[in-house]
Amino acid sequence: MYLGLDLGTSGVKAMLIDGDQRIIGSANGALDVSRPHPGWSEQDPHEWIRATEEAVSGLKAQHPKELAAVKGIGLSGQMHGATLIGASDEVLRPCILWNDTRSHAEAAALDADPRFRALTGNIVFPGFTAPKLAWVAKHEPEIFAKIRRVLLPKDYLRLWLTGEYISEMSDSAGTSWLDTGARKWSSELLAATGLDESQMPSLVEGTQQAGHLRADLRNQWGIQDDVVVAGGAGDNAASACGMGTVSDGAAFVSLGTSGVLFAANGAYLPKPESAVHAFCHALPNTWHQMGVILSATDSLNWHSHVTGKSAADLTSELGDELKAPSSVTFLPYLSGERTPHNDAAIRGVFVGLGHESSRAVLTQAVLEGVAFAIRDNLEALRSAGTEISRVTAIGGGSRSRYWLSSIATTLGLPVDLPADGDFGAAFGAARLGLIAATGADPVSVCTPPKTAGTIEPNASLHEAYDAAYRRYRAIYPAIKTLTH
Ligand code: XUL
Repeated sequence: MYLGLDLGTSGVKAMLIDGDQRIIGSANGALDVSRPHPGWSEQDPHEWIRATEEAVSGLKAQHPKELAAVKGIGLSGQMHGATLIGASDEVLRPCILWNDTRSHAEAAALDADPRFRALTGNIVFPGFTAPKLAWVAKHEPEIFAKIRRVLLPKDYLRLWLTGEYISEMSDSAGTSWLDTGARKWSSELLAATGLDESQMPSLVEGTQQAGHLRADLRNQWGIQDDVVVAGGAGDNAASACGMGTVSDGAAFVSLGTSGVLFAANGAYLPKPESAVHAFCHALPNTWHQMGVILSATDSLNWHSHVTGKSAADLTSELGDELKAPSSVTFLPYLSGERTPHNDAAIRGVFVGLGHESSRAVLTQAVLEGVAFAIRDNLEALRSAGTEISRVTAIGGGSRSRYWLSSIATTLGLPVDLPADGDFGAAFGAARLGLIAATGADPVSVCTPPKTAGTIEPNASLHEAYDAAYRRYRAIYPAIKTLTH
């Protein structure tokens, strides 16, 4: 048996799989986000432990025998969070999360130092870890002085599970301190934020062993034999392991709170000026690119909140059959945008409203706006050297056939739907636990799920959607000066 633990933003998910990768069961522990000031987003790391205990107890209640047979654990986690630890492993302040934008000025300052883009292959985004440390150094110098170690969220969980300070390449690539091509910490970049390598965890590949479960936790969970903990992965790379997106050119689009277009690469292909994220994958000698939009289903949720209709009701008003593009254009920049604009200050708009703009017209515009933002990501990945010929859709938004059809037509690519099942980050993490414990070949373990169906681009509407996309592209430069 193998256990995947995914430390998400809204909860911890624990999933058990057997040696044939059949899902035995899963359980959750809930988490809240605290937003003490506008733009801030924090969590108490002790809550991660509490939520993990809750999830594992849930699993133990349902499957005690199977939990007792666990041989390997894989970790997945929300990326970029700054967990600051003192000399006796005490937590120095709440973790500053991936969606916290307080350090945008520090991010811009670090990004202006050409060494960051050259070594990390990425823009220093406000959500990444290094600018958060620059913010702490400036605003909380007494805390900064006490920092013994900086850990990413899942690596703090590993410290609790194993007593070890270890991270792996995929999550570390989102700190702005990793030399992403060489897969090692950059002492130069650490020094630029007043840190040194002794304050960082040691690094392994996601598929390698990275500690053993502590004896007292084994006792608590009813496990007798040694349990290996794998390096694991940041949540996007872990989902890719779950989805089998590990070989060159394989891609998925994730329609969650944020939206991600993810492609696996056999080589390191950075292109920071396109705002594409170029990170290490969880597998050795593999990288990936990713375009990230900040409000995907969050845009539809916002529209649902304003109209007082559920997201499912709103999308069902459109039916399943793709319509010609809406005359109203929506830009989904409700909390700024990463790819392709790297613009924390931009905000969304509806353009082209008329008396005839009904609720359904606006719903259509919202879905199209997100589809166009994903097309922006596709163009960014293409400009960074990645050719994508089809994508698999995952995440809550993929339940809407209309949305998928609009995405397929906007991208001009077939969109595959995985057969029923749970192929997310917890499953990917469990696969990494299996690989680390057994030494199995990563590519043969991380296979794609069966496809339940494919949504083809609508050829007769492709041109109209292309024209609507060009209209969408023209709006950002026009509103940029107005919303800043
Ligand atoms: C990736 C990112 C998010 C978080 C969500 O760069 O910021 O996908 O990993 O947990």
